[in-house]
Amino acid sequence: MRKRLALFGSGRGSNGEAIYKAIKGGHIEGEIVLIMSDRPNVDIVDKGRAWQIPVYVIEPTMYAQKEDWSQAMLDVLVTYTVDGVLLAGYMRILPPTFVQAYRENILNIHPSLLPAFTGLEAQKQALVKGVKYTGCTIHFVDEGMDTGPIIAQAVVPVYEDDTVDTLSTRILHEEHRIYPEAVRLFCKDALEIVESRVVIKKEATIR
Ligand code: GAR
Repeated sequence: MRKRLALFGSGRGSNGEAIYKAIKGGHIEGEIVLIMSDRPNVDIVDKGRAWQIPVYVIEPTMYAQKEDWSQAMLDVLVTYTVDGVLLAGYMRILPPTFVQAYRENILNIHPSLLPAFTGLEAQKQALVKGVKYTGCTIHFVDEGMDTGPIIAQAVVPVYEDDTVDTLSTRILHEEHRIYPEAVRLFCKDALEIVESRVVIKKEATIR
């Protein structure tokens, strides 16, 4: 059965678009049933409307309590019988009640080789630290910030003349490759969490 996916984003939405295109191309046994954003005037909202997918803007600042914000999002997801949540440039930490409701069914992308460089400006952090390689990570979401079992990673070199922009572009290229592939495996129920590790059940490798 095709998984019913909620795509969460806060900005440009290029990872969301990569996943959308992979679905349209028949590579993923899933469908994006709604887009959720914490900001009204961002590209992912426009993209969702262009794709004719229902868009919800739920801003945490509209709620006095974190739990009310969480519940407002969960209410929407229940209405659409969502199976999985894809964080694609969603720049908020989800409340614990939300994580609990969808535990092992929330995926996130982060532009570093986790556990290095969590939080904001991961590419800048890599440049400041002077690492020679960095990359991106797809992981299941738990209550921490950019923690949770790792599904896939891709490595990119850091060059001496890199800026945040050039490095981010190189990483983004890999993000667009590995996120749709991780979603494909998730939708096939091919990912299993064994203790803190993710193993691929029915397929040997990540392409
Ligand atoms: C991506 O580089 C993603 O890895 C990063 O935000 C960007 C969103 O781009 N996410 C994080 O830093 C999450 N901690 P996009 O909106 O074009 O997909």
